[in-house]
Amino acid sequence: MAETQKWTGLKVRQTFLDYFEQRGHTIVPSSSVVPHNDPTLLFTNAGMNQFKPIFLGSVAKTDPMSGLKRAADTQKCIRAGGKHNDLDDVGKDSYHHTFFEMLGNWSFGDYFKKEAIEMSWDLLTKVYGLDPDRLYVTYFEGNPEMNLEPDLEAKNLWKSVGVADDHILPGNMKDNFWEMGDQGPCGPCSEVHYDKVGGRNAAHLVNMDDPLVVEIWNNVFIQFDRQADKSLKSLPAKHVDTGMGYERLVSALQNKISNYATDIFTPLFDRIQEVTGARPYTDKYGKDDVDGIDTAYRVVADHIRLLAFSMADGAVPNNEGRGYVVRRVLRRGSRYARKYFNAEIGSFFSKILPALVEQMGHQFPEIVKKQADIKEILDEEEEAFARTLDRGERQFEKYAAAVAKSGGSSLSGADVWRLYDTFGFPEDLTQLMAEERGLTISKAEVDVAREKAREASKSVKEAVQTFAKLNVHQIAELEGNYKLSRADSSAKYQRGDLNAKIALIYTGTGFVQSTTNIPLKSPIGILLDKTNFYAESGGQVADTGRLVIDDVAEFEVLDVQEFGGYILHNGYIEYGALRVGDSVICEYDELRRQYIRNNHTGTHVLNHALREVLGDEINQKGSLVDQDKLRFDFSHKASLSLAELTKVEALSNENIHRNLKVFYKDVDLASAREIEGLRAVFGETYPDPVRVVSIGKDIDEMLKSPKNPEWRKYSVEFCGGTHVEQTNQIKDLIIVEESGIAKGIRRVVAYTGSTAHQAQRVAAQYSERLDALEKLPFGPEKEAEIKAFVQELNQLTISALSKEELRTRFAKVQKDVVDEQKKRTKAELKTAVTAVTDFFAKPENKESKWYVGQLPISANAKAISEVINHFRNKDKERSVYVFGGNESDGVVHGVYVGTNLAAKGITAGQWSAAVSDVIGGKAGGKEPSSQGSGTKPEKLADALACAEEWLSEKLGALKL
Ligand code: ALA
Repeated sequence: MAETQKWTGLKVRQTFLDYFEQRGHTIVPSSSVVPHNDPTLLFTNAGMNQFKPIFLGSVAKTDPMSGLKRAADTQKCIRAGGKHNDLDDVGKDSYHHTFFEMLGNWSFGDYFKKEAIEMSWDLLTKVYGLDPDRLYVTYFEGNPEMNLEPDLEAKNLWKSVGVADDHILPGNMKDNFWEMGDQGPCGPCSEVHYDKVGGRNAAHLVNMDDPLVVEIWNNVFIQFDRQADKSLKSLPAKHVDTGMGYERLVSALQNKISNYATDIFTPLFDRIQEVTGARPYTDKYGKDDVDGIDTAYRVVADHIRLLAFSMADGAVPNNEGRGYVVRRVLRRGSRYARKYFNAEIGSFFSKILPALVEQMGHQFPEIVKKQADIKEILDEEEEAFARTLDRGERQFEKYAAAVAKSGGSSLSGADVWRLYDTFGFPEDLTQLMAEERGLTISKAEVDVAREKAREASKSVKEAVQTFAKLNVHQIAELEGNYKLSRADSSAKYQRGDLNAKIALIYTGTGFVQSTTNIPLKSPIGILLDKTNFYAESGGQVADTGRLVIDDVAEFEVLDVQEFGGYILHNGYIEYGALRVGDSVICEYDELRRQYIRNNHTGTHVLNHALREVLGDEINQKGSLVDQDKLRFDFSHKASLSLAELTKVEALSNENIHRNLKVFYKDVDLASAREIEGLRAVFGETYPDPVRVVSIGKDIDEMLKSPKNPEWRKYSVEFCGGTHVEQTNQIKDLIIVEESGIAKGIRRVVAYTGSTAHQAQRVAAQYSERLDALEKLPFGPEKEAEIKAFVQELNQLTISALSKEELRTRFAKVQKDVVDEQKKRTKAELKTAVTAVTDFFAKPENKESKWYVGQLPISANAKAISEVINHFRNKDKERSVYVFGGNESDGVVHGVYVGTNLAAKGITAGQWSAAVSDVIGGKAGGKEPSSQGSGTKPEKLADALACAEEWLSEKLGALKL
């Protein structure tokens, strides 16, 4: 039995790494959980992922990895999507995680089964001191259909290290043939399982999903590459790939039934308790976890690990692929936290984060470095989810009640889809809630509903773009017939929902009192008595969102426009019907608005910085502010120099980081115009009173002494847009483009907030790639990478300054390569000539009149010309037929017929034509020389022989 107290998680990990380091393994860092170069993978799901190119034999010779024979590490893994997906189990049992560490050792064509098995057994039983009686091993039983033999070699090896016969068990394809994914490296494997009970024979419980008998280590003997057509292709070499579940090993060594009862999770649980005030964790499962709180502890502790590590490696929550997994996990965790801990959703996970950083930061410094970013993304995403949770849960209750009332037992696919589409409920969350109610869900039904909804929304979005205008007659009608007042829209400057009344419904051609006769999903416009939606204006795009009557009706707002002061909310009815006088909840999309706000205040900050750097003459000519970016056009003669761009960006960020307060106020136009340094767009008419937005200075104070030159230091503008309260909400601003759009008009495009951070991450990745490119030795691989790099670089949207920096660095690499090529070509010219002159210089060849041979040069046509010219000018009498290059890289050839052979009637044209017949392609030139390149380089030897034979035959014939 192991001495339980001595095996802290920290020590278990270090012992593993030390063991393999002492046995000739290089300890490598864990690769990112976001696989950057493997489109077949959602997340890194095994330690071997980063070594895939070595297994497949496709690793570049110059890659630092290519020399590796043995390696070991602890790899950050995520299994929450794709082939290996454990998300639904997490929290419910004691040994699954969405994020875990995999300890691994590898042999790349070096040692194989014998050493791998011996080391596993030695480490587990001698070093860690696990009781051999509690360990069971498996081997592959073979599969005749796939033509795979049983792995008796592994079986015998386990026997020879001392495993008892009844602890060695055969296993099938599913358990004992490991595959990375649908394609890729794979092979038979041998697992080690641990019985947490002991004192019995637990062989019958192996691989039976018994929480007390769990697999701890897998030794894979990689020999095949699974092809897209499902066949197995043998690999050129045999490898070892092992993976040990770190959390499971620690639980075995700490003599715990559950992974969650180890010191890997205790600090997280302590923190959760501190934050929520919940009862302590008791490690209960299923029905024993009566109040569900232990399950919630596990879910939250597991999920913060996935969230922090995936965000640290650059994954952000969104609606696709990897981003959607992150979003689902955060939402699943938030729901548990709210339901079981009564925690307020909005900034819950970021409060748990510090405990994780403290615990794991020393092994994985990236979470220390990225802590602030992670917190920001967590909070942003959680806040957005909090807003939809309430309504979604109420809606779910309604659906569930309807099912119960009708005596059914399953939730309809359309309802599940609506919960996702309208309330942002991930399907697995709905699944979970359904399970809690004993309801089932048909996945196929959901798929059908999803498809139908996608088609419908595509066509409605297209239709909505083409209508939605009020002309002067309709505006007159609103004022005259309907006596409709203009909606109060002041609420757009506050956050949160607003209750409003439907004032009128616009069909696109006329006005109606109710939508009852209008089909769902057809485009219409809604007028309200008041609104918090932002109608497109001043360069800021319109808000999107919903008008809702809880549980009765919902209107999807896709666009908001103002006509003669009337605000039209354009979109379509999602369900139910609306009538004039109905009270609706106006929900603009706040997460989207947040990005827009950052970009709008960012535009003011940028405008101010441009003026500071370029002078007062620059004038705003146009702008666009949406959720992705800000675009600012201004008058200026020349393009911005790098120094100017740097200054503008730095000054903008300086102001952002000073965390200035943003002031706004309606001021009478004449007084407002007095404020020194105020920016207005020339030629624009402004309302009176006008809204003034100032960054960093109270407007009232400025109005007291409007001509104070001091005010020039601040950004003061006329603006009706929505803005942040404090500038540090913008986080950062990066300029991604500076260009000219017309004579004397420049355009700057910039990103802010997390969009800026994401772009910075991309820039950092390319910088790392450039580091590697710089280190690559000269050769075809470097040339290929240069080509790929320049193409990608041109398409990148990153900070213009980073791009310039990358470009400068890249240009140097490119120049070095070109210089090196030139140097080599020049050296080859010399080598080529010397090779032939050396031949004639030898005493035995002094009398020779010709030379046919291959030169020690690349397929360098210039070197062939050099040889020809040398003889033409300096040794006219002799003839040479020379070849350059080789079978794989291509062949060039050329001939000079000296006066001696020419006198006998030999021509360069005929000679090279004979050679071209063999080597392919054509040769040409003016007598007495000819040059060409071959299209069949594999015929090089034959072509050489032909060059000789042709001449011998010609000369032989002449003699006769
Ligand atoms: N790659 C193997 C696994 O993940 C070791 O189980």
